[in-house]
Amino acid sequence: MEKTAKLVVNGKSYELPLVVGTEGEIALDISYLRSETGLITLDPGYANTGSCKSCITFMDGEKGILRYRGYPVEQLAEYSSFRETAYLLINGELPLENELNRFSVMLNDHSLVHEDMHHFFQNFPRRAHPMGILSSMVNALRAFYPEIPERSEEEEINITFTRLLSKVRTMAAMSYKISRGHKIVYPRHDLSYCANFLNMMFDSPVKPYVIDEDLVDALNVFWILHADHEQNCSTAAVRLVGSARVNLYAAISAGICALWGPLHGGANQSVVEMLQEIHDSGGNPAPFIARAKDRDDPFRLMGFGHRVYKTYDPRARIMEKTCNRVLKKLKIHDPLLDIAKRLEEVAVKDAYFIDHDLYPNVDFYSGIVLRAMGIPLNMFPVMFAIGRLPGWISQWKESMEDPKWKLHRPRQVYTGLQERDYVPLNKRG
Ligand code: ACO
Repeated sequence: MEKTAKLVVNGKSYELPLVVGTEGEIALDISYLRSETGLITLDPGYANTGSCKSCITFMDGEKGILRYRGYPVEQLAEYSSFRETAYLLINGELPLENELNRFSVMLNDHSLVHEDMHHFFQNFPRRAHPMGILSSMVNALRAFYPEIPERSEEEEINITFTRLLSKVRTMAAMSYKISRGHKIVYPRHDLSYCANFLNMMFDSPVKPYVIDEDLVDALNVFWILHADHEQNCSTAAVRLVGSARVNLYAAISAGICALWGPLHGGANQSVVEMLQEIHDSGGNPAPFIARAKDRDDPFRLMGFGHRVYKTYDPRARIMEKTCNRVLKKLKIHDPLLDIAKRLEEVAVKDAYFIDHDLYPNVDFYSGIVLRAMGIPLNMFPVMFAIGRLPGWISQWKESMEDPKWKLHRPRQVYTGLQERDYVPLNKRG
């Protein structure tokens, strides 16, 4: 294969190096484009721009492949736990038994949130969205816990990562309890990562929560499927903000804000709201499909389409199976699931959706799983954020360790007015 590509501009030709990834992806290296040619590239939404080299997650949007550190997500969802997958993403390898045990002990040791932080929680207005609360609280962690100093020992770095993984889960459950006006439930030493979360969410002094292992399994799958997705919007936000060398908590907080949007992590909430709207309007998805196809209507079918997947999102299939399993176990008949299946059946056969490569994404069924677990609608994006945390941490770590690290600073093509003179106030108009 050629090692360079030729660019010809105004009759002058330039050689651009080609970079080949381990899965055969080829990229044009334009790092020296501006210094050598004076040109920049224009790529709105960065759809064709590789912002980094990464060895964490591989996805092939045409074939519907997703792998973390080389392991297919299907295998991890089947055999791994969220805790183990988090370890894998951050450390690069599956843990040995003693490493996993140590990681579990550390997660438990760091699960408590500083008592002074409780006051912050208590003072958010009752209607505050949990994503806003979570991003503020994660940022506030910096005031209570140290940053990772330069040249720190590996142990110190690991403690910071574990602290974040553990506390975010505790803070998410706390924000839910406070929003309900209920007593906070503290983490328990004897429970696993996922079981602990469910217990902190749903245990109450009047009705002790009984842990259902099938729900714990489903939560493990949900979080494994969300654990990383290479350079998506929120991860790109973590890397970009992190590139200014802010502390880890601030970078993760930025990621949470990006994830909040309905086109990204807020989509699971929007899907359920859309399905509910279809249900309330009589249950026929046809008018909604027609609206999604209408160019003059901004409405989109939520849970459909993806920037990278141009086929089924592999996570959507696993999520659908999990959804069926959870509803069967809990003996729930959710009319929204029937509507979702009808909607999918019609949409995937429709020429518009086929032509636009629009298939269900991970969010299409995930909301129904969360609903069955008893998670309230406005907590859905928070559930996504807890799942994505190992991905954000590992991507942040990789970017910090990159010897070719650079401050992220895109350029632009200016299309505004050319230079003109200032006009004093009394001479305007
Ligand atoms: N419903 C109807 N039409 C759609 C949809 C949809 N869900 N998604 C894309 N399209 C159409 C657009 O209208 C556009 O049509 P046109 O070319 O005829 O004008 C075309 O497909 C391309 O749309 P873009 O917005 O350019 O595609 P992009 O790759 O940027 O969009 C996105 C990806 C944002 C996810 C989009 O598919 C969408 O809005 N989906 C609904 C929201 C959603 O489910 N988000 C979750 C994504 S997964 C995740 O973050 C975990």
